[in-house]
Amino acid sequence: MSGGLTGARNGDGRSGGAGIRLEKLSKSYGRVRALDGVDLDVPAGELVTLVGPSGSGKSTILRLIAGLDRPDGGRVLVGGQDVGELPPHRRSVAMVFQDYALYPHLSVLENLLFGMRVRKVPRAEARRRAHDAAARLGISDLLERHPDQMSGGQRQRVALARAVVREPSVYLLDEPLASLDAQLRITTRADLLALHRQLGTTTVHVTHDQAEAMTLGDRVVVVHEGRVRQEGPPQEVYDEPVDTFVARFLGSPPMNLVAGGGVLGGEPETIVGLRPEDLALDADGPIEASAEAVETLGNEAVLLARCLDGTRLTARTEPRLRIRPGDAVRLRAIPGRLHRFDAGTGRRL
Ligand SMILES: Nc1ncnc2c1ncn2[C@@H]1O[C@H](COP(=O)(O)OP(=O)(O)OP(=O)(O)O)[C@@H](O)[C@H]1O
Ligand SMILES: [Mg+2]
Repeated sequence: MSGGLTGARNGDGRSGGAGIRLEKLSKSYGRVRALDGVDLDVPAGELVTLVGPSGSGKSTILRLIAGLDRPDGGRVLVGGQDVGELPPHRRSVAMVFQDYALYPHLSVLENLLFGMRVRKVPRAEARRRAHDAAARLGISDLLERHPDQMSGGQRQRVALARAVVREPSVYLLDEPLASLDAQLRITTRADLLALHRQLGTTTVHVTHDQAEAMTLGDRVVVVHEGRVRQEGPPQEVYDEPVDTFVARFLGSPPMNLVAGGGVLGGEPETIVGLRPEDLALDADGPIEASAEAVETLGNEAVLLARCLDGTRLTARTEPRLRIRPGDAVRLRAIPGRLHRFDAGTGRRL
């Protein structure tokens, strides 16, 4: 490898990779402020998911780490080294794009070999790495095919294998599962986790799917409007969202938020939150409501209820209760599960 960063390797080819540190990273495209002072630490070997709505700046963060774009301000450190002056190919960072970006006129094997040829990896070594990566991703029998002869899931695996052959210190994955159907997404997600466990390489995984963020990451980082809103272990962020944005963004159906507390009890200057699973049907419950809609999902039902004062609340319920729209229901908030936020700032109190 030519003068760039390399991950520390041990005998069986595993790499802890390199840690990443972002310091006050900012980036504008014309008048659009894509990033507005992003600070982030990803320890070596960790898998972190960046999650946030469309346009929040997730891809921009990856592009700046990869060196595909330059920040207007701030620093990117990989393995403790400021990589600001290094071109992408010297950063030992492999990025997988959402649209695969495979070469259509090359076979799978040639796609895997291409980058190594450019980097002047010796032929025998390049072939060994290509076959090894193909085996890891379960595409060994597809090596002679062309991208247009494969399914989306297979192409996605080729794109991942192409990153694996680079043996980078850092993987940057930009929504690598987004184009897969629901079933395939779940199995590929498990494969990605297994791959991360095998390779142990630092990985930043971008998704706008909150369930994917929760299940994949050692830590989730919630990005909104070019800023990191919250980071932490998935359960911690879910249980203690720092503001109403994070509270609504993680969790499906989203958290109920009631201005002033209303039926949930509270004070005028607050917003009170309650997750749908923390709102229980209870014949003696203090909250009187009528069922507006019931979505049955097989294993559970989601009840949309309208309270006497007009407040709408969502509750997760048992699916076999046969509640019908218009039915009167009574609800109770599970004690200790209320979240309180400042009505002005939206911050957790
Ligand atoms: N090359 C560009 N030129 C102009 N604006 C851009 C460019 N790239 C990104 N932006 C803008 O910067 C902001 C952040 O974009 P970014 O692609 O990082 O969002 P994202 O979180 O990855 O969104 P998505 O989930 O839709 O992929 C958006 O407002 C976007 O329109
Ligand atoms: Mg994006």
